[in-house]
Amino acid sequence: MKITILTTFINVFDSFFETSILKRAIKEGLVEFKIVNIRDYTLDKHHRSDSSPIGGGAGLILKCQPIIDALNANSTDRTLKIITTPRGKIFNQKMAVEIARNYDEILILCGHYEGIDERVYKYFDLEISIGDYILTGGETASFVLIDAITRLIPGVINDDSIKEETFNNSLVEYPQYTEPYNYNNDYVPDILYSGNHEAIRKFNLKKSLEYTLKYRPDLLKDYIFNKEELSLLDEIKENKTPSWEKEAIEKGKKFIKNKDN
Ligand code: ADE
Repeated sequence: MKITILTTFINVFDSFFETSILKRAIKEGLVEFKIVNIRDYTLDKHHRSDSSPIGGGAGLILKCQPIIDALNANSTDRTLKIITTPRGKIFNQKMAVEIARNYDEILILCGHYEGIDERVYKYFDLEISIGDYILTGGETASFVLIDAITRLIPGVINDDSIKEETFNNSLVEYPQYTEPYNYNNDYVPDILYSGNHEAIRKFNLKKSLEYTLKYRPDLLKDYIFNKEELSLLDEIKENKTPSWEKEAIEKGKKFIKNKDN
């Protein structure tokens, strides 16, 4: 995928591209970035990309001409042209998946200062906000878009990580643990040591349901539970360890004798 960023703050991207996953993705040719300085497309001798709002008002507004010229010089018919703005559609995982699946080229315009000349918007396909708050600049928003989209490009991260994560099927991800088994008398669930993959899958699904109910019940609004999930929900309500869980723990005991050695 090719990602072009139109910005007046080109330097802020340097360390971002040095982060491990992005760095590797760039090295392996899975994603290519082009940072375009809007200022390079200004026509006036002072290279001004911004100006005061006509009719009065606070701050400075990004001008149309440098943006549109930068856009035309750095996009094609196949480019998805995105503008980051607090008035845009709120970004979510579904949008990230759709963009990663359907486009090989995207361009992101980072808005700045008090705003962008209104006549710019019609040249773009999509206005995206990353949340209901005002950032000082679209660069921060573009980091979020770039991160969420590039990790979905095949090969950038392990495919299993993507399959299992929160939001893919509207459930929050199940809790995960690593060594030690006992930390301040807080224990890793025994079943995870059982070696019984089917029981672990079922346990993790149950935990996903439990955590979704607890942390993000809103995600379940339109969720259609399958038979297994409905029976796990009953188990959650009963709040007892069911027989399949007890059996898996019992059979797996031999693996957990020396857990912290
Ligand atoms: N620019 C300023 N605030 C923003 C936001 N919340 N999302 C996207 N771009 C922005």
